[in-house]
Amino acid sequence: MTETIYILNGPNLNLLGKRQPEIYGYDTLEDIEGVCTELAADAGYAVRFLQSNHEGQIVDWVHEARSEASGIVINPAAYTHTSVAILDALNTFEGPVLEVHISNVHKRESFRHHSYVSLRADGVIAGFGTEGYALAVRRMISLLG
Ligand code: DQA
Repeated sequence: MTETIYILNGPNLNLLGKRQPEIYGYDTLEDIEGVCTELAADAGYAVRFLQSNHEGQIVDWVHEARSEASGIVINPAAYTHTSVAILDALNTFEGPVLEVHISNVHKRESFRHHSYVSLRADGVIAGFGTEGYALAVRRMISLLG
């Protein structure tokens, strides 16, 4: 059976391409999904690419991933800096978890410097723009391989 990589996206990322493009660029989430899906398919993996503005929905998808996914790539967006619930959910997941941020959060406001998700993540990519997702998928493929 084809293994699946979950790629989860948090609040406001549905507006990617329109939202503060000077920070996040002009690629849309659909553009990123296309690149990640193709990259994963070339290595024999499926992708389930999801976005929600609601914390509980992201927790539910992490729970779903426990039985459906081999690995999770997650950009929790603002919940990165606030969500113990998403951290707790990720701590129930047994496969690799990679955290992605489009912007370099360490160059921005101090409240973005702390990540709850980093306490669980096996790797973190920040400041590589939307290319960070492709880098994370590549790394996920090598971790799963
Ligand atoms: C972000 C960084 C977060 O601080 C911010 O709240 C986001 C996006 C990023 O991808 O750079 O919404 O996760």
